[in-house]
Amino acid sequence: MSKENGDWPDFNKNRIGQLIVCEGGTCGNRDKGAHPIPFDQLKKTIKSNGMKKHFKLTSSKCLGVCKPHNVSVFLSDDEQIWFGQMKTDEPYVQLEQWISCSVDEGQMLPLPTTLEKYVFKRFKSN
Ligand code: FES
Repeated sequence: MSKENGDWPDFNKNRIGQLIVCEGGTCGNRDKGAHPIPFDQLKKTIKSNGMKKHFKLTSSKCLGVCKPHNVSVFLSDDEQIWFGQMKTDEPYVQLEQWISCSVDEGQMLPLPTTLEKYVFKRFKSN
């Protein structure tokens, strides 16, 4: 059962997107060959640049697709983008820049081509 659009409160209306970063048992685990996840740096950047009101960053336990290592999912009203195989800090820096530029514009900008190689298809589609 779902509510009609008009029945929901207008919460988070200022936010243009959300990034959920997995910090589960495999992602970020050096013993399993993963690169440490710079979540605190991401959080610091988003908080210190006043982006928090416009973009939500959260960490999560296992997102259920551990094999690519260092999985994150970006969500907005229009799309979901799954990222994996982030083996250095560089893609996280690119994510920060993408989010920062998008917040400045007041809307999510197209995904930078430099991040495309980290995108994977999470679900089977018809
Ligand atoms: S531990 Fe990150 S997706 Fe499973």
